[in-house]
Amino acid sequence: MTMRELTTRRAAALVALALLAACQPTPEAPPYAAQVTLQDAMNHIIDPEADVIWHATGTIATKEGVIENYPRTDEDWEAQRRAALRLLEASNMLLIPDRKVTDTPFASAGPGVYSSAEVQRQIDSNRATFNALALNLRDASQQLLKASDRRDVESLMKLGDHLDHACEGCHKTFWYPAEKFPPLPARPPSP
Ligand code: HEC
Repeated sequence: MTMRELTTRRAAALVALALLAACQPTPEAPPYAAQVTLQDAMNHIIDPEADVIWHATGTIATKEGVIENYPRTDEDWEAQRRAALRLLEASNMLLIPDRKVTDTPFASAGPGVYSSAEVQRQIDSNRATFNALALNLRDASQQLLKASDRRDVESLMKLGDHLDHACEGCHKTFWYPAEKFPPLPARPPSP
């Protein structure tokens, strides 16, 4: 084989390699699908876990007097940890694009409160803000997870407020922007 033939062969090999590289599939978005509506995520995934956190601390009035309520047993702390973990992952759910607000459209609940169609429009046109507010939930959940690992009652109480602000921050932007006294979310009566 002459020098010239060798160079030609090398060039051909390089071209073949380049073609091969060009034919490699480009990385695609992971095939997740947001099939749970935002409303279901709120009512059945996020809200119940936030309640676990909020109900864990505070004072309870009883006939015998006021009792300080806080996690005491291993199971109590495990429940806090579980709730924090679930909220943490739920904050990622909120970041998945193209989630429908609801399957059962609802009207505005009053002045300054969006209908489901308006909520959807707001989210679709202000996605970056929505994501930033979801990250507040992630931040609060991360801190709650650490506090439950440290079994730190004082932080747990403070972080309960932090969590509340993370919820309200998004609700005030995307749900009831002009309402002064937001309606309490509908809950089934306690057993
Ligand atoms: C990034 C935005 C965002 C965050 C964070 C967020 N929410 Fe929501 N949430 C919404 C929007 C938008 C609605 C109104 C549309 C709807 O009802 O689904 C809503 C509605 C709700 C509802 C009413 C659902 C219904 O029946 O219509 C509840 C309950 C709720 N959120 C609880 C919470 C709690 C508790 C937290 C915090 C732990 C939280 N949310 C954090 C965006 C958010």
